[in-house]
Amino acid sequence: MPQKALIFVVALATLLLSACAPAQRTGATSKMTQQPFGKTPAGEDVALYTLTNSKGFAAAITTFGGIVVSLKAPDRAGRAADVVFGFENLEGYLKGHPYFGAIIGRYGNRIAKGRFTLDGVAYKLAQNNGENHLHGGISGFDKAVWKAREAAAQDGPSLELSYLSQDGEEGYPGNLAVTVTYTLTEANELRIDYLATTDQPTVLNLTNHSYFNLAGQGEGDILGHVVTINADRFTPVDAGLIPTGELRPVEGTPFDFRQPRAIGERISAPDEQIRLGLGYDHNYVLNGAAGTLRLAARVLEPSSGRLMEVHTTEPAMQLYTGNFLDGTLTGKGGKVYRHRYGFCMETQHYPDSPNQPGFPSVVLRPGGRYQTTTVYKFSTGERP
Ligand code: GLA
Repeated sequence: MPQKALIFVVALATLLLSACAPAQRTGATSKMTQQPFGKTPAGEDVALYTLTNSKGFAAAITTFGGIVVSLKAPDRAGRAADVVFGFENLEGYLKGHPYFGAIIGRYGNRIAKGRFTLDGVAYKLAQNNGENHLHGGISGFDKAVWKAREAAAQDGPSLELSYLSQDGEEGYPGNLAVTVTYTLTEANELRIDYLATTDQPTVLNLTNHSYFNLAGQGEGDILGHVVTINADRFTPVDAGLIPTGELRPVEGTPFDFRQPRAIGERISAPDEQIRLGLGYDHNYVLNGAAGTLRLAARVLEPSSGRLMEVHTTEPAMQLYTGNFLDGTLTGKGGKVYRHRYGFCMETQHYPDSPNQPGFPSVVLRPGGRYQTTTVYKFSTGERP
């Protein structure tokens, strides 16, 4: 090759490399986009944000309830499927649903009889689940319109949602400033960082209520999903699903998921707790130190090979196997959500903690900072 041509080729190659290199380093193909999602009956505009990483892993999140509307994860052949329940538009959510994908607050799970006492003051909350209070009441965080802004995260597109819950809202004391940040990382993780401060002593327990089906939403029941839960104990419940206060070893019960087991294997076992929960609807006391991010659960869907890991700083996690789903709701793509078509893994504090002095505290005081993190990580694997 003549010298001039060689210089030209080298120069061109250098130029091309320098143009490509920053894109690889910064993952410039990861992005966040925004589109309108509808208006609430009160006339508030609701938006839908889509976060995508350079591998095509994508989450769509709406400012209504901070709901994860869709989550697209690849199977072992690289084919993406939407693995969470949801609706195509805001109207679907406004018609009512059992907390699909939503941020739950102020208090995820149940508070017995909707009552608790804090610093000698008795508080009365909505009783929206029989005589008990569930998932923040009649108009919880799942129905609030959150303020959105793009957050500066190092590891991927990040959406910061914030909401000011007024003193007295749903019966809870204190103005509570809440921030929930969703980040989609290059490692196919959806990370959720929860933050809150208050101007009066209050109680709170924030979580996300996504219903997963790793074969794809609406694609059959979840009984064949193989689950591992990093918990030696769970909190048995009474007929209203309120913990009795006991921390019961899972050893020798259908609740033992310390080794991988299919969800359906023992879901109809002749066990009092299974009967009360109509299947699994129980709080697992996670092993390891609360406050440190550690593995809570691992779920493999054998046919697609999709594998989800849940990591959390929370002390516990509710496993709910969609026992109340009855096929009356139709979601995205006309998919019908039938009995046990989805499962939830709600990282949390124990249910009814405000009334259980033996449970880890859920009290937040002025000057204190509520801060937790949960990560849902997607990859693929083989049957264990
Ligand atoms: C939670 C509860 C369940 C049920 C669902 C919503 O996960 O533990 O008992 O109320 O929410 O239907």
